[in-house]
Amino acid sequence: MARSISKRKKPSKDDFQLKERFKTESEVFDRQTLIVLSKIIKKGILQSVDYPISTGKEANVFRATTNDGTFVAVKIYKRETSPFARKDEYLYADPRFEKIKHNDREIVRAFARKEFKNLELCQKGGVHAPKPYYLIDNVLIMEFLGEGELPYPTLNVIKSENPEKDLELILGDVKKMYKVGLVHADLSEYNIIMKEAPYLIDFGQGVITRHPSANHFLERDVITILKYFGKKGVRKDLAKVLEWIKQS
Ligand SMILES: Nc1ncnc2c1ncn2[C@@H]1O[C@H](COP(=O)(O)OP(=O)(O)O)[C@@H](O)[C@H]1O
Ligand SMILES: [Mg+2]
Repeated sequence: MARSISKRKKPSKDDFQLKERFKTESEVFDRQTLIVLSKIIKKGILQSVDYPISTGKEANVFRATTNDGTFVAVKIYKRETSPFARKDEYLYADPRFEKIKHNDREIVRAFARKEFKNLELCQKGGVHAPKPYYLIDNVLIMEFLGEGELPYPTLNVIKSENPEKDLELILGDVKKMYKVGLVHADLSEYNIIMKEAPYLIDFGQGVITRHPSANHFLERDVITILKYFGKKGVRKDLAKVLEWIKQS
């Protein structure tokens, strides 16, 4: 015992820096997520995780590079936040997720899977949304909406140069989503990335149109969007827009 104590080195400055680095890393990535990320890198899917684009309550988004040098966005759903527990309403009554166990870990995985599946549906419907590439556990890899090093800004940051056109495109996408049986359920200027056209993102809460609250969520989405564009001087009638979305 005494030997091991006397053998213990005094911590050096380097040790301290390493400890600090590990501390920040472990704040961003929990142990389980670090294991998943190292698996993804070992599998040869990603070459590197480059920098954080966004750190949120429920997920962090990173720019990463695949083995062939393509930039991708990596969304990592956090395991340690429990607001998901309260968000059961988005999973409940969705036949795709009926069997999930209702503990936080399973719920977090289900949200990542839900976002992935919803993005697949968007591709099927021709909706402007990032292409989904891989889903591994709580990690979702998708198309990077950006130019060179930088992600494109969201609508709340950049504002719209042509609000009439952008509103038309966004509502067009809401209609296309509805046609493939999907409602976004968290649509706002914060979840729209401005590329050459507006791109919808953040589909973790998206529900299928058979969900008992789908109509309520659809109405809420459209109200939020109309309110935003109303302030930019473009006004549309809510009832008419909803009717138009629902007609085939
Ligand atoms: N595919 C993507 N390409 C580029 N940036 C993205 C992409 N997906 C998300 N982002 C950025 O990350 C932020 C958070 O992503 P989001 O899916 O909205 O997660 P959250 O649940 O934290 O709101 C977005 O506001 C956007 O700036
Ligand atoms: Mg968001």
